[in-house]
Amino acid sequence: MFYRDLREQNRLSWNAVVGAHDSHRVDLARFLREGGSTLFPEDRALLGDLNGKALAHLQCNSGGDSLSLALLGASVTGVDISDEAISSARQLSSRSGVPADFVRADVFDWLRGQKEARFDVVYCSYGIVCWLPDLRAWAGGIASVLRPGGRFVIVDFHPTAMMFDEHWNHVHAYYSGGEPLTDDAGVGDYVAEAGGGLTPAGFVEGERDFDNPQRCHLFRWGLGEVVTAVAGAGLRLTVLQEYPYSNGERQFAEMRELPGRRMIPPESVSTVPLMYGIRAYKS
Ligand SMILES: C[S@@+](CC[C@H](N)C(=O)[O-])C[C@H]1O[C@@H](n2cnc3c(N)ncnc32)[C@H](O)[C@@H]1O
Repeated sequence: MFYRDLREQNRLSWNAVVGAHDSHRVDLARFLREGGSTLFPEDRALLGDLNGKALAHLQCNSGGDSLSLALLGASVTGVDISDEAISSARQLSSRSGVPADFVRADVFDWLRGQKEARFDVVYCSYGIVCWLPDLRAWAGGIASVLRPGGRFVIVDFHPTAMMFDEHWNHVHAYYSGGEPLTDDAGVGDYVAEAGGGLTPAGFVEGERDFDNPQRCHLFRWGLGEVVTAVAGAGLRLTVLQEYPYSNGERQFAEMRELPGRRMIPPESVSTVPLMYGIRAYKS
């Protein structure tokens, strides 16, 4: 498998940042216990009815979304490479009383290790594809764990958004090919930068000025490559939607916040796709 050493380095970078992210989340366990949800409407619409479904949540991070999915009636298995994220997800599950299984594993290893096609739904969202060095293996693995008739849903940041610097200057070429790109600053505290956009239960200042000692490696792919990998794995696409806004995250200067934690560019910036969503079925 490609770049195992880089993925291991990413594990360290994620391990380092999870505590800072969690420090900004006020009483998420109570929010979930009382039936709150961290999910955005775009994801809910693409996922459809989850009652009684076996759902794999890939790259689940600290599990807030996984437990929100469980509250919709799914039996959830969350998978993530970060030891700290999985430990935090397990604590959140026990403190909220919302059950889910959490597995610490590299997503490629976990997909390859599954013995049967036992999931009705595979889901992942918001910062997924940039961690994947091999889209063919990823999509093929997803197809292999889905039952016939099962569905795959992804909502992710649009690769077009990566062409701009934080002041909306067009400074990068459109990425493609998955070439590794090293970020010496490592995974940042984007939960703090979102200033409440990623903390529906409430935001506290928590840890300040987090500095990640562990660099990370990103893999940049174009949207066509993602779609081609999903279709190439034999999954039938029924939705490919692009959204001119970003849920939760403020990646750019002067973003305006609409209700529902929806971030849009300032008026001076023409429409740019900032997220996309896909739904695809296994025959
Ligand atoms: C931006 S987060 C995804 C956000 C997540 N959906 C949430 O609810 O917060 C990306 C996640 O991918 C995980 N990750 C990165 N590389 C991975 C890999 N090779 N296998 C499994 N998880 C990985 C990270 O540990 C991190 O938790």
